[in-house]
Amino acid sequence: MIEIGVVIRGESCSFDASMSVPLLNLAEHNRPYQDRMREAFDRFLASGQYIGGDQVTLFEKEVASYLGVSECVAVSSGTDALLLALMALDVGPGDEVICPSFTFFATAGVVHRLGAKPVFAEILEGSFNMDPEDIEHRITPRTKGIIPVHLFGQMANIGRIQAIADKHGLFVVEDAAQAIGARHNGKHAGSFGAFGAFSFYPTKNLSGLGDSGLVSTNDPKLAAKARILRVHGMDPVYYHSHVGGNFRFDPIQGALLRIKLPDLDTSIGLRQERAARYVSRLGSHPAVALSCEEAAGKKLVLPETSPGNAHTFNQFTIRVRGEGARDRLAAQLKAAGIGHGIYYPLGLHQQECFRCHTGGAVSLPITEAACREVLSIPIVPEIKLEQIDEVCDRIIGFLDGGNAA
Ligand SMILES: Cc1ncc(COP(=O)(O)O)c(C=O)c1O
Repeated sequence: MIEIGVVIRGESCSFDASMSVPLLNLAEHNRPYQDRMREAFDRFLASGQYIGGDQVTLFEKEVASYLGVSECVAVSSGTDALLLALMALDVGPGDEVICPSFTFFATAGVVHRLGAKPVFAEILEGSFNMDPEDIEHRITPRTKGIIPVHLFGQMANIGRIQAIADKHGLFVVEDAAQAIGARHNGKHAGSFGAFGAFSFYPTKNLSGLGDSGLVSTNDPKLAAKARILRVHGMDPVYYHSHVGGNFRFDPIQGALLRIKLPDLDTSIGLRQERAARYVSRLGSHPAVALSCEEAAGKKLVLPETSPGNAHTFNQFTIRVRGEGARDRLAAQLKAAGIGHGIYYPLGLHQQECFRCHTGGAVSLPITEAACREVLSIPIVPEIKLEQIDEVCDRIIGFLDGGNAA
């Protein structure tokens, strides 16, 4: 048996070659690009330009044009993109930044690392995204900004969140790590706030061969500051106006990502097609709800797309309702060789390391229910529609009370 190890977030999510439907298969994903990637690597090797240079600036320009923003600054990871954005906005000790609890750790981790306090807001049941109505009453005189996360590939209610921010004089940094290509009323994620922060971690819709990220902005002053902070706050060389970090973006990632960027919308279209297949196959089952509003008495709820949104389905995340039901379905999928993920099993407000901010006393019931119920199932463009059907058959078998084995 050939073991192919896929490392997801430090966890070894390995599958063997006979796995019927992997959650993702990165080698397969990159196969159509491999000749061009080899050529790009040869050019890179021969160029001797291993830091900075054309491949960085061209990638920044091409992403800026794709997003419809004036500038992008490419960096070392999505986490560093968030950190750099907050540094450019002068977040520091004594500040509070409101963000969701139902997100990847980095969203709040960067706030804490700057000596500020992450204040966790509740999400909406349907979209898993931050509930704008829960933000306003968490604003205090110390609040400096809001980080909405565009989770699983669709945008949070950015219009409402920006309006709240404007009313209270706060910044908005969009955590668009999972949402490159997502749009609200045709406008791209990352083109609304003071900054958008993106990740090209290999599981993302624009997936790198390693770590990298980027900030987008329409503010030339913030872009200039971000560029300086990216290299230890240095400008000119060896003169430091700020304390920054080494957040440089590797030009080899630029060379490789530039090959894939023109195909991004096509590959998002393939994800949307797979999502539509799940909805048509599962949606007609009597135990399945198409939205949380219809969920009473149902065992499974399909993901919702909020009005005006183009969802890019970085994840297709269902809710499995009932005590222990999610874990039982996950075990059945595992036994059938079907990949899946639980994003996220615990809210950030429940994490041990943030007790210093929460005192262990913050309760976010909608977030906590999502942590018990969510299950992400295969959606990547490389899997065939017949494989989606196989996943659906297993899920329907589970809903019908059997093991479908
Ligand atoms: C919502 C969110 N924010 C931030 C990040 C951090 O990105 P990176 O892994 O590139 O540092 C991720 C990556 O998984 C993410 O999903």
